[in-house]
Amino acid sequence: MEVIVAPKPHAQLTFEALAISKTAEEERRKRSSFFLGDQKLYHFDDVSKHSATKDCWLIIHGKVYDVTPFMDDHPGGDEVLLAATKKDATNDFEDVGHSNPARDLMDKYCIGKIDASTLPVNRVFIQPEQTPYNPDKTSGFTSKILPFLVPVMILGLAFAARYYTRAE
Ligand code: HEM
Repeated sequence: MEVIVAPKPHAQLTFEALAISKTAEEERRKRSSFFLGDQKLYHFDDVSKHSATKDCWLIIHGKVYDVTPFMDDHPGGDEVLLAATKKDATNDFEDVGHSNPARDLMDKYCIGKIDASTLPVNRVFIQPEQTPYNPDKTSGFTSKILPFLVPVMILGLAFAARYYTRAE
């Protein structure tokens, strides 16, 4: 007699869920490199793949630029352009204070737009709160009044000694 073992219902569900999420991701990626009006919309991961001197794409102000033919002619050099790949290079571009002719030139290299929802979330580094270094472990208040307290105590002792020696 042949025994057929049916797959567990929950296992089947997991496979189905995986298949659905895979197609959803594929669908999303397909959509993200589609045309938006007359401009192509790119996924951040796809733009990041172009990060070499002979194949260099940049993201500036929500647009994607293929600056490969401009690498040798860029007055700031090709290294800065390479360093600006795999990220939103808007701040890098603006920090230099590019001229208007430089901005006009950009149109020549624009190949489309970035799908903003695919950009990595900007993580802000927050410095952990640090207590000031205090090697003698005395509290701030004590170390502040100590220089005044010592002379007052010496003066008090001097008066006390004088008082007792006089009484004798
Ligand atoms: C499509 C993108 C870009 C174009 C068309 C472009 C174009 C230019 C042009 C024409 C100049 C000459 C100065 C001016 O007219 O402002 C320049 C200078 C420069 N660019 Fe870019 N640039 C681009 C992206 C970038 C990026 C992403 C960086 C990253 C930091 C960068 C860094 C520089 C630097 C450091 C200089 C030299 C500034 C100086 O020596 O005064 N550029 N660029």
